[in-house]
Amino acid sequence: MSLTVCNVHLTPKSEKTVYLSSTLMKQLKLTGKKSVRLRLGKATIPATLKPVKRPGNHVFIPAGLRSFVRVPKSGMVYLRNDQEGDLQLGPLIGVLSDSSLRTQSHPFGSRTTFIKQILRVGNKKGFVFAFTPRDINWNNETVNAYFLSESDSWIRRTVPLPDVVYNRLPSRRAETSSSIQTLRERFVRRNIPFFNWSFFKKSDIYELLENDLEANLHVPESVMNPTPDTIRDMLARHQFVYYKPTSGSLGIGIYRLTYLPRKGYFARYTVNGKNTLLRFKHFSSLIRMLQGRHGRSLRNYVVQQGVRLIEIDSCPIDFRFHMHKNGDNDWTVVGIGAKKAGKGSVTTHVKNGGQLMTPEQALQRMFGDRSEEVLGNMKTVAIELAMAIERNYPHLLGELGFDLGIDRDEHVWMFEANAKPGRSIFKHPSLRNEGQSSIEHILDHCLFLSKFRRRDPM
Ligand SMILES: Nc1ncnc2c1ncn2[C@@H]1O[C@H](COP(=O)(O)OP(=O)(O)O)[C@@H](O)[C@H]1O
Ligand SMILES: [Mg+2]
Repeated sequence: MSLTVCNVHLTPKSEKTVYLSSTLMKQLKLTGKKSVRLRLGKATIPATLKPVKRPGNHVFIPAGLRSFVRVPKSGMVYLRNDQEGDLQLGPLIGVLSDSSLRTQSHPFGSRTTFIKQILRVGNKKGFVFAFTPRDINWNNETVNAYFLSESDSWIRRTVPLPDVVYNRLPSRRAETSSSIQTLRERFVRRNIPFFNWSFFKKSDIYELLENDLEANLHVPESVMNPTPDTIRDMLARHQFVYYKPTSGSLGIGIYRLTYLPRKGYFARYTVNGKNTLLRFKHFSSLIRMLQGRHGRSLRNYVVQQGVRLIEIDSCPIDFRFHMHKNGDNDWTVVGIGAKKAGKGSVTTHVKNGGQLMTPEQALQRMFGDRSEEVLGNMKTVAIELAMAIERNYPHLLGELGFDLGIDRDEHVWMFEANAKPGRSIFKHPSLRNEGQSSIEHILDHCLFLSKFRRRDPM
């Protein structure tokens, strides 16, 4: 296989001939060849191949071929001559998203800014577009794609099915619908890498790591759909537990339950930014309160061993580790935010009064000279956890957001793994570069998955 970068020119002719500058012919080991199959994304068309005298790497694609392979624009992209003899332009990368609040300028609602960022950087690496599930035409295998113009406005172009899909569908509920399940299966059936597969349920990740001895050392003891007896038993053994909805986010619906001998049972939780602490003399009254708020069955909740986190100013601290797979298919820690809980809050979410800091700021106060070592250890654990999840997960993963904590013995714990991690840590002025790096990683991994990455220097 040979791979290089070239300048694509679109010509108006109706012929089915692709013209390559002689240097390009040579670089792609095509000298003397008279025909190829031209490919973009999943579309291919047989074409006559002719050299042209012109210095540099240039390819000329006439309208006669474009009506099949639908090259969306001219400019610099990769050109690849693969084992099957296909001459492939690309990569054609699709970012899948949606929004219930769409406008002309913001077709992906609040996600539009992030998607534009990907497309802006991606324009330098290939053909990168955004689309919603409704933009796919499965009958003729095309997508009515959103491209970003030089002037930052949206242009719609019909393109073939892409080489790779980065999934940022925003709704948990929609993602479990049969139409989205079918959509994913259709991509898989066509050998189009699709990552990440879907949102995680907390309990699925805890279960998936249960048999992975090393990784499981970092998962607090967790039980899905616990009976009251299980909750009571865990409270007796751990003094406090977290009780959280398995498909929840943003700390919504989370309780911190504590048992203090002779004093009773305590439940701490936050609703609409207001912290509440309730005391119960008897365990049965605690359960009655939970059942009153969530129905008798207490379904879809996980009870989890409480971890005594390190603190600053008596407020617990935990960390968001933003992980990506890079262009070599290896997991890397791309950004870390430290989060200090608001006073009296059960979680560290900024929405509940939490404060975002750099990990250095947070660890320096606790560990002084040793903070670098502690952070290094957390990074090692984060990479081990990512590899373990990937090992035990049946679909492609390219990005993960971990909520990690350190207890007073410096043991690292994972509270949650997010498959579509939020990007709020990158708003911190000291984490902007990491935010940029995160975008670069997404694209590099797309290049890897679509086989458009150079393995060795050329
Ligand atoms: N077992 C636990 N022990 C201590 N703190 C926890 C535990 N589980 C969650 N937390 C705290 O609550 C926060 C939110 O929990 P998480 O599982 O990430 O739920 P969410 O999906 O709502 O973000 C964590 O970032 C952490 O600060
Ligand atoms: Mg979380």
